[in-house]
Amino acid sequence: MNGKIPHVVQYQGSKRILAPQILQYMPRKFRRLFEPFAGMAAITIAAAREKRASQYHINDINEPLICLLQEAVNAPDVLIEKYTQIWSNQFDYSEGHLKHFYHIRNCFNAGEQTAENMLYLLARCVKGAVRYGKNGNFNQSPDKRRHGTNPRNITENVYAISSLLKGKSVFSALDYRQIFEMAEPGDLVYMDPPYQAVSNTRDCRYFAGIDFDDFSDAIKILNRKDVDYVISYDGECGGKEYGNELPQSLKCTKFLLNAGRSTQATLLGKRDTTYEALYVSESIAKIIHTTPSQMPLMGASENAT
Ligand SMILES: C[S@@+](CC[C@H](N)C(=O)[O-])C[C@H]1O[C@@H](n2cnc3c(N)ncnc32)[C@H](O)[C@@H]1O
Repeated sequence: MNGKIPHVVQYQGSKRILAPQILQYMPRKFRRLFEPFAGMAAITIAAAREKRASQYHINDINEPLICLLQEAVNAPDVLIEKYTQIWSNQFDYSEGHLKHFYHIRNCFNAGEQTAENMLYLLARCVKGAVRYGKNGNFNQSPDKRRHGTNPRNITENVYAISSLLKGKSVFSALDYRQIFEMAEPGDLVYMDPPYQAVSNTRDCRYFAGIDFDDFSDAIKILNRKDVDYVISYDGECGGKEYGNELPQSLKCTKFLLNAGRSTQATLLGKRDTTYEALYVSESIAKIIHTTPSQMPLMGASENAT
């Protein structure tokens, strides 16, 4: 399918660009798609465009984020109207648009964790990166050069997403392990847990939860239940690897996806390409290897096993 995959708003770590590659490593059809670390749910949205599943379960431990996605899907008109209001107010704010961002951030941290406040903070903050301090408060700064995505652009995207997912999606803000319990044979679980390199460097509530051993252990639940899964995990750039390999006992197959030039490398004037690892469960690896029509699709990637 051509054209850009719609997204609600920028989100650091989004798989929107890689989604077409990732989808090539998934079965053509499955019953339900579970995305336990959804973020902006790029893979769910991409899979829904191709009608791969009949139901989509979108989960992230960050509750306001889920609130935002839920409203985007189920009540796009309400979300757009409220966002347009907040976004427009920044230009009339007596102390200037930056102070307006801090005002909304204060409201959010004081408990007004509404979908529109989350959307505005993400649209206006640096790199769409959610950062929470030790006290659990959202502490990311505004991007001083931008005013945040124009409501016109958000409107088009949000309606597109709503038409793909309305009536077919379930939302939750649970720990990923609870989602594993819900999955059954015939379903697919796509996981994009926070990279270890990220989770170890910041004391951010929403990135601190993933312990490598806990995660590997939890994957055993899916193996035991015979549930198919795909995991985006560690990264590799300029020969340097980030993150541990998943244990061989899980019987996954690892592929490397070409994610293009890294921003860091570009800034340093280097030509290093970033590779992102994708692990697929045992039965998916068999389908990929044995379906001739899928073989050429893997041309751009490198099977690292
Ligand atoms: C790398 S981001 C996912 C980005 C997503 N693939 C996208 O395209 O936008 C990882 C997500 O995992 C969530 N997360 C962190 N710990 C979690 C946990 N224990 N259970 C569920 N979600 C968690 C974070 O809030 C974050 O949104």
